[in-house]
Parts: sequence; C-alpha cells; structure tokens
Amino acid sequence: MIRTIDAGMTDARGRSVTLRGVSDENWRDIADVVPKDDQRDWVATSGARYLLLSEREGVWTSLGVYSDELVVGHIMWAYDEDDDRNWIGGMLIEAQDQGTGIGRAALLTLVDYLRELPEPKGIRLSVHQDNLPARRLYASVGFVELEIDEDGDLTAELADPDAEIPENAEV
Ligand SMILES: CC(C)(COP(=O)(O)OP(=O)(O)OC[C@H]1O[C@@H](n2cnc3c(N)ncnc32)[C@H](O)[C@@H]1OP(=O)(O)O)[C@@H](O)C(=O)NCCC(=O)NCCS
Repeated sequence: MIRTIDAGMTDARGRSVTLRGVSDENWRDIADVVPKDDQRDWVATSGARYLLLSEREGVWTSLGVYSDELVVGHIMWAYDEDDDRNWIGGMLIEAQDQGTGIGRAALLTLVDYLRELPEPKGIRLSVHQDNLPARRLYASVGFVELEIDEDGDLTAELADPDAEIPENAEV
C-alpha cells in the first residue's frame, strides 16, 4: 500500500504538500474535507463520498492531500482499461485552504507519480465547463480539453507521459 507520495512540492506558504494513502489514522480527516458552498455543483459535498466510492467499487485509489502534517484535501486516481488511460478525480481542497497553491501542488504530485509508474499512460480527467478555476488550473498544468458531453462535462488529457509541464500555459 502507498504510504506517502512526495514530489518535493510546496504551497505558497512554503509548506510541504504530499499525498498519503488512506489509513486508520487519517480517514476521518479526509472524510471531513468540504468545499465551499457554491462549489457543490461540481464536486461531492465532502471527502467521505469519494472515500466510499473508492472503498466500495475498488476502482479508484483515494489519497489524502497533506500540508505538512495536516489533512487539507482529497484526490484519487484510477486506471481505465477501456481507454488505456489513468484518470485523476475527486480533487477537493478544504474550503479555507483553497487559493494557497495546495491544489496545484497536489495535482503536480499525482501527475509526477503517475508518470513514474512502470507503465505510464496518458492521464485524463473530467471537469465541468462552468468550473473555470479548475479548468484554468488543469490547463496551466498542460491538460488539453478534448470533448464535452451533454451534461457540460469536459474530458481533458495530458497526453504525453514524457512531455515537459509548461510553466505558463493558459486556457
Ligand atoms: C479547484 C481546486 C482543487 C483548486 O485548489 P486550490 O488549492 O484552491 O488551487 P491553488 O491554490 O493551487 O490555485 C490554483 C490556481 O487556481 C486559482 N484559483 C484557485 N481558486 C480560485 C477561485 N476560487 N477563483 C479563481 N481562481 C482560483 C489560483 O489563483 C491558481 O492560479 P495561479 O496559479 O495562476 O495563481 C479547489 O479550488 C477546490 O477544491 N475546488 C472545489 C472542488 C473542485 O472544483 N474540484 C475540481 C473538480 S474537477
């Protein structure tokens, strides 16, 4: 089981941002992570929903996002054999900790981890078209929007596992 994924990232306050596997010690704190009220259209109302999904379906791997030793978010990933891609989902940073660079650091840490797997794959995620902050973040990390479904959900892909992450890409 994965314990800690550390790509050496820090947030804007210089705190170390790492991802850690779900354990007896941290699951309650991850379950309690909540977004801002006006973000509930785009994500689950708390980390608990994602933990249950991972636990029940056995497809996704949930990870806690840590700022130093504090749980501040949730993120998860899964391999989809239908499209032979690794997917990132369930990205949620605690409301009061948003906007301090944790989300970007967590995303880059997971991307780095997925690229280092023995068989790296293209990386995909889904984001609602109205979720502009998230779309901007993903685009700046190098995700390219591919298609949109009838519900307004966009699929975006970081296609080349060996590609450099652009520093200042924009939507
Ligand atoms: C999207 C989310 C994960 C980003 O995490 P975060 O820790 O707030 O992001 P960061 O602080 O690393 O900021 C990343 C970029 O987004 C911008 N940003 C963050 N929150 C923002 C907001 N509410 N409005 C506008 N821009 C915002 C930051 O300015 C930053 O851009 P910059 O690097 O060019 O300055 C977080 O806002 C969140 O949990 N949102 C609710 C859940 C959600 O929408 N998840 C994504 C589902 S696809």
